[in-house]
Amino acid sequence: MAKEPLEIQLAGIRLVKKGALPLYQQLYGQLRGMIVRQQLRPGERLPASRSLSQSLGVSRIIVNQAYELLVMEGYLVGKTGSGTFVAAVLPDQLLHAAPAVNPSPAAGNKQEPLRLPAKPAGATAVQPFLIGTPSLDFFPYKIWQQVGNRVLKELRQFNLGYEDTLGYFPLRKAIAAYLRLSRAVHCEAEQVVVVTGSQQGLNLVTASLLQQGDKVWMEDPGFPGARDAFGGAGVQLCAVPVEKDGLDLAYARRHFSDAKLAYVTPSHQFPLGCTLSQAKRKALLSWAAKSGMWILEDDYDSEFRYEGSPLASLQGQDEHGKVIYSGTFSKVLFPGLRLAYLVLPSPAMADRFRQAKNLLDRQSPIMEQLMVCRFMEEGHFLRHIRKMRLLYAERQQLLVQLVQAQLGDYFRLVLSPSGMHLVCWLSDRIDATRFAQEARALQLDISFINEYSLQHTLPPAIALGFTAFSRYRLKTGVEKLALCVQRSLLA
Ligand SMILES: Cc1ncc(COP(=O)(O)O)c(C=O)c1O
Repeated sequence: MAKEPLEIQLAGIRLVKKGALPLYQQLYGQLRGMIVRQQLRPGERLPASRSLSQSLGVSRIIVNQAYELLVMEGYLVGKTGSGTFVAAVLPDQLLHAAPAVNPSPAAGNKQEPLRLPAKPAGATAVQPFLIGTPSLDFFPYKIWQQVGNRVLKELRQFNLGYEDTLGYFPLRKAIAAYLRLSRAVHCEAEQVVVVTGSQQGLNLVTASLLQQGDKVWMEDPGFPGARDAFGGAGVQLCAVPVEKDGLDLAYARRHFSDAKLAYVTPSHQFPLGCTLSQAKRKALLSWAAKSGMWILEDDYDSEFRYEGSPLASLQGQDEHGKVIYSGTFSKVLFPGLRLAYLVLPSPAMADRFRQAKNLLDRQSPIMEQLMVCRFMEEGHFLRHIRKMRLLYAERQQLLVQLVQAQLGDYFRLVLSPSGMHLVCWLSDRIDATRFAQEARALQLDISFINEYSLQHTLPPAIALGFTAFSRYRLKTGVEKLALCVQRSLLA
């Protein structure tokens, strides 16, 4: 029987308490350095988190977080029951690897390591710096498959006929429990409506609450999906500028005091990334209570907050039942799932949405609802969010470092403790049109903030998504950005 590799002792790790970086990031960086410098070799076993935490004098959580990140990045592999090991093939080597050759059938062997299947024809690779896309490489496919297998095995026990239009009730319960804890949303399952993507939620709100000609406050710049849902129904879009602390409330009240609804992204304004201040939250809620205006809170990516404790939702502060809360599984699981939810101020109002949902698609698909429900009930959902939060924090930090080091003279980067993209204002030495052309030629996927403007145009700025891109792709992406800048500098 092959001998188990010995657990090695790690020397030379020094963590600075109250340093500039959190302890887990310091540990992650030092371990990664040891792997890259080959102090730690492929196949070597790392100390158990308990013993490393004791020797470093930090909590075990710190060590686990650092290990998890390195596993996610492909430097380490965890083997259930036997420990954590340096990966046989490191991500840096993969980048320089020769193209894989299909093994001949004769070489097929049950002991062979698992190979990821080639992307099927039609699967598109996302290009840096596409915004709003989760890291699908790190989706827990195996767990998802196991959950799916269990659901299929028990399928006959579920209602496969017409289910409740408002959603599979245990899923509504799981969503309500999650939102109460993680987002401080005040809700019961009866207020939750499962929808086929937040886009459908926007259509339902439009169909159930708005009439042609009604006025809706829209953040400007803002989310085009909302603009199109309201605009398509003949609603009057009232463009409200966005300040550093969110929607310009005074402007909105002055110009559109008779609005029927306000569409807002308070946790992380789309696309500028700011947070609606506490003072404005209070003022917005009291205006809604006084004027009878509805507020649609789109909380699309609030799970990804990298500093401090999570922000509470606006809905949780609403005492007058004026806020409709919208959340999605697109960012925390995957967009192709097409599942999201609305939380209505009361069960009676949720019931009123039944008619509109009936007309749109009768109900969201039951298989997907069953799977997400299981995924949540078994704890995989929260674990996945926690892992992705760590991964995205790393990626965001790397992007900040790269942009500041290589483009600091040309981009003014807006630092943000949350979200899935960063905003950079372009220096007036850059010809923005030329820059956009160069970026397209180099196959960069760059969004200009003004693409999201309704009426108030802003100086040139871009949004750089970071969540879907490895270290390597972020590095090469920023190198390409620097090239685009060089090629588009005004004389
Ligand atoms: C502001 C905003 N709301 C909602 C969504 C998610 O929409 P859906 O649930 O339809 O995928 C997005 C996706 O990009 C978004 O940017």
